Order: sequence, then C-alpha cells, then structure tokens
Amino acid sequence: MTTTSDPGRWTVATAPGAVPVAGHALQLRKGPLAFLAGLPAHGDLVQVRIGPSRGFVVCHPDLVHQVLLNDRVFDKGGFFWDKVRLGVGNGLATCPYRDHRRQRRLLQPAFSRNRLRGYAPAMTEQINTLTGRWRDGEVIDVIAQMNTLTSHTTSRTLFIADCVAPAAAAVVEALPDFLHGIYRQMMMPALLNRLPTPANRRFDRARTRLRTSVTDAVHAYRQDGDQHEDLLSVLLAARDQDGSPLTDSEIYDQVISLLIGGTETTATTLAWALHLLATHPHIQQRLHAETSTLLGHRPATWDDLPRLELTGHVITETLRLYPAGWLFTRITSTDTELAGQPLPAGTTLICSPYLIQRRADTFPDPERFDPDRWRAGHAPHPPRQASIPFGAGARKCIGDTFAMTLAPLALATIIARWRVEPATDAPVRPSVTATLQPESLRLRLHQRTRT
Ligand code: HEM
Repeated sequence: MTTTSDPGRWTVATAPGAVPVAGHALQLRKGPLAFLAGLPAHGDLVQVRIGPSRGFVVCHPDLVHQVLLNDRVFDKGGFFWDKVRLGVGNGLATCPYRDHRRQRRLLQPAFSRNRLRGYAPAMTEQINTLTGRWRDGEVIDVIAQMNTLTSHTTSRTLFIADCVAPAAAAVVEALPDFLHGIYRQMMMPALLNRLPTPANRRFDRARTRLRTSVTDAVHAYRQDGDQHEDLLSVLLAARDQDGSPLTDSEIYDQVISLLIGGTETTATTLAWALHLLATHPHIQQRLHAETSTLLGHRPATWDDLPRLELTGHVITETLRLYPAGWLFTRITSTDTELAGQPLPAGTTLICSPYLIQRRADTFPDPERFDPDRWRAGHAPHPPRQASIPFGAGARKCIGDTFAMTLAPLALATIIARWRVEPATDAPVRPSVTATLQPESLRLRLHQRTRT
C-alpha cells in the first residue's frame, strides 16, 4: 500500500493486493463487499485497478459529497454507467450532465407530493392483491414476490388507464429478462454481448417487447386525448422551454429509466427488511404493536404514513445495511483534484453507499440492525451525509419519495397481517448484481389473528 497524506486532512492510497495484469479484479470478483468495506482502513481516497483500467474508490462521506454535488465535473459515466447506457439508452438515470437538467425538469412533476398521493391507492391495491393470495403456513420466495409487487405497481403507476392495460401487462412480463440482460451486458465484454447466445436473444426479445408495449401505450394515449393520473401522462404533457414535446424515443428512454430505477431496487429493499425482521423477532414484535394499533388488519394507506414511525425507521435502517444501489461511478469531465489528488479528465470515481454506510466512525456498531438509530432525539444521530442510499446532489434518486411511500405501505400491510420467520437455517448472503439482493430468501408466513 502506498499512502500520501494531504497536509490539510485527507489520505490517498492504493489498495493492497493488486496482482500483475488483473490488478484488484479478482478481489472484486470474489468478494466485492468485503473488499470495499476494507478500503477505508487504507485511506479516504483509494486507488484500485481492474485490468488496464484505474479508478478511485471514494471512502469518506465528505469526499463522496464533494463528488456527488459537483455533477458538472464529476459526470455520470465510468465503467458502470457507460455499460448501462449502452443497454438502456439516454434516459434520466443514464444521461450525461449536458442533457440532465432538461430531462430532470421535464420528469420532476411526475414525483410531486400531489402525484404521489394520487399513486398511493394503486400501491395499496397492488399490495392487497398480492398478499391476499398468501396462505397461513406457506413458505414464500420473498424476492420473487416483492419483484412482482414492485413491477406491477410501477407499471400501474406508469400506465393507469384501461386502454393501456395490455401494455402494462406486457411490461411486467418482459421486465425480468430485460433487467437480467442489462446486468449481463454490464459484466460481459462488449463482443460477447453481440453473439446470438440464448441469453442475448432473450434480452433482445424482452427489449423489443418493452419498446413495442411503450409505443403502443403512447399511441393509445395520443388517440384518446384524455389526461390520466399516471407517469406516462406527465411525460406526454412535458414541454421544453420552446414548447416542443418529448419525442417517442425520448419517452421510451424515460419509461425504461423509471422501470429500471424503480422495480428491483424497491423490491430488494422490502426483501431485506422482511429478512431482518424475521431474524430480529423482538423488532418484528414492536412493529406488530405499531401496525395493530394503527391499522388492525386493514391495508396501510397514504394517510397512515406519518404515523408509521417504526416502519419508516426499519426501511431506513434496511437501506443503510443493504442499499440496493450499492455502487455507482462518476467520470471526471475535466482535469481536477480530489483530496489533494490530481485527477486527469476521464478518471473513474467509485462511490459505494454500502461502504460509506458501514463506517464505524459514523454508525457505532455498524453491522447491527438497529432501527432506533433513526429515532428523533436518538444520540448520536447519524449525520445527514453519512447515509446516501438514494445518492445526493442533482442526480439524487428522483423516485426516493415514491420508494419511501411504497416500501412502508407494503411493509406495514404485510406485518399487520403476518408474522414472518426464516424457512430454513441456511444463512442469507447478499448476491452482488446491479442491485444488492439476497442470494435466496424463503420465509414462512404465520397469519396473525384479529384482536
Ligand atoms: C429503495 C429504492 C431505490 C433506491 C435504493 C434507489 C437508489 C438510487 C440511487 C443511489 C440513485 C443515484 C445513482 C447515481 O447517483 O449514480 C438513483 C437514481 C435514480 N433513481 Fe432510484 N432508487 C430507488 C427507487 C427508485 C424509484 C421507485 C424510481 C422511479 C420510479 C427510481 C428512479 C431513479 C432515476 C430515474 C434515477 C436517476 C435520477 C437522476 O439522475 O436525475 N428510483 N436511485
């Protein structure tokens, strides 16, 4: 390890253990989370090498904020986003700085408080439908169930009218193969992505189906001319400063951005929350008490949210321990410096909420699941910049309040009616893909009796 200290404050180092040619690629492949979590011990900014590519992992929350708040210099890009952009186009989540402000301004109205209040009944309805099929004593595949919930909810809030119901259904069907394909594209060399393998063909079919469904929905709305309370209507009504609407291709890119950003992330968060409750029965009991008092057995609604205090803290703590967006990259658009380290234009920076949110100096006993850290008045209260599950700055997740509406509504409704317990003794390990998912998670449901 080489270390240089900035006379002011920061330490810059190279991560130990690089081997010739591969650099740190093997460590990252074998155990990326353990590798990342160990880096703050070496410096605030730590250089890593993946084959011929070099990048810096940003290990201190203050430095992460310097990067995320300056999106002109630290632009969206680097190996992670470049590969995603190839697969999904130039929507809000992937576009570079030069396109971002315009796209964000056009999409932001879809996430206003009023709009969210409008989406909440569809969320409650989807949660009710899914959990209504569960039976006492049943073992559920939690990841599959939560993915079903979030993909149905997102597609329903995108396409609410009856005339686009077929498009909504097709989107739900095509989404799993599409999301899986994007992850494969990110991880594989570009040449292999173009070969006609069964996996690549599945991805192409899913992509074609999504494009056709979104195009059909756009045409259906243009024909019926009505305004609907959904995301697609906001995209169709969006106007540039010169009054021009989004093109069909731009609408498609935005729909894909929202589907990718919104489904697996929220599903994963809910799955981890249920796992944490199943393995921490005393906290589950407290949540039973909260939901019994507030809900009885009815589903949670928008108006319940402010009072579902512990539910909210459970979600926040879950996002600290298992942030679905566990890693993202930036690329310097110009020569600059960070922590006293000169960074030429084109340098990749790696930010990881997983790493930042498990630092013992900001979160005492960081591995412990402790929702009470987030209680008002709890000392020490985590500093704001120490938790970044939704990122920060201009590129902060546009769906953060959407997720923080759907996740507590779903968790409270489930816990009001069910007690969950692990179905096996097998440890539940994180599986590192585009999101941080449990490798496999099966829970047994016990119906709670009405009191
Ligand atoms: C628990 C759930 C979620 C998590 C953990 C999450 C996480 C994130 C993170 C970390 C970023 C910033 C990435 C970066 O800076 O490079 C982001 C951006 C984004 N997210 Fe989410 N997200 C969640 C839910 C959602 C939902 C529900 C939607 C849409 C319905 C969504 C849509 C987006 C979009 C479009 C962006 C790009 C924003 C921009 O660049 O202006 N996300 N998300």
